[in-house]
Amino acid sequence: MDTYVAILGLDIPLHDILRWFHIILVAYWLGGEWGVFNAATNVADGALSLDERLRAMELVYRIDIMPRSAIIWLLPVGFHMADNYGLSPITGQYVTLVWVLTVAWQLLILAAFRARGTPRAIKLTDIDNKLRYVVIPALILVGGVMLVTGEIPTTGELLTQYWLATKVTFFGFILIIGLLLRHTMKAWAIGFMRLRDEGSTPEIEEIFTKTLARARIYAYVYWVCIGTMAFIGVTKAF
Ligand code: HEM
Repeated sequence: MDTYVAILGLDIPLHDILRWFHIILVAYWLGGEWGVFNAATNVADGALSLDERLRAMELVYRIDIMPRSAIIWLLPVGFHMADNYGLSPITGQYVTLVWVLTVAWQLLILAAFRARGTPRAIKLTDIDNKLRYVVIPALILVGGVMLVTGEIPTTGELLTQYWLATKVTFFGFILIIGLLLRHTMKAWAIGFMRLRDEGSTPEIEEIFTKTLARARIYAYVYWVCIGTMAFIGVTKAF
């Protein structure tokens, strides 16, 4: 907690800068998801022309890049702050490693964004999703072990508070909902390639309408979960 950063002659605790960045990330995530949710309506609207729907899909991609990026940066920022509290399963140079791995992950997400609408983007997004297949069980396992044993498995320290372990575990579950939403976007990407090649058919339109209906339910659960995580982070009540 005692690291300071000199900004415009002011010595600001690094932890406060991390906390500020943490809140900015959450704002881009929650706000961005709302934007994607609304832009998606036109994507699935079969009454609109292909050009109008492609414009809506481009808008979805352009909004989604922010929540898609913000989510991964919550990990190094969160674990760095948690390490400052002595509550983190990831400590010292391993926190630095998480920062470095997150940079690599961000480059993958940007590469998929640049190739959006192409088969290459689907390949890159599949790699991004597969990374989540590793991160999700790791978060749920480590957080779960901390909650059940009351101990930090990597340091042997006994937990004095449980809010961080709860956040780590809960974040794993929230990322599962995120994956379900990402599968919806992948179905649309493939749907558009077919719309372009085959034109509008009832079968292709069903890809859009069915996935949108499902995505709406995921989105509502997602927002409540993200809001709850924020409440746990602010109150640190347990
Ligand atoms: C859905 C994801 C998340 C949301 C919405 C969220 C939200 C928040 C909020 C609003 C705060 C309070 C900030 C303040 O009091 O100024 C906070 C604090 C904190 N969060 Fe998160 N967070 C999320 C994920 C995470 C993750 C994954 C970690 C750890 C890996 C984490 C670790 C922390 C820590 C250590 C604090 C305490 C900072 C402090 O008050 O000094 N958060 N979080």
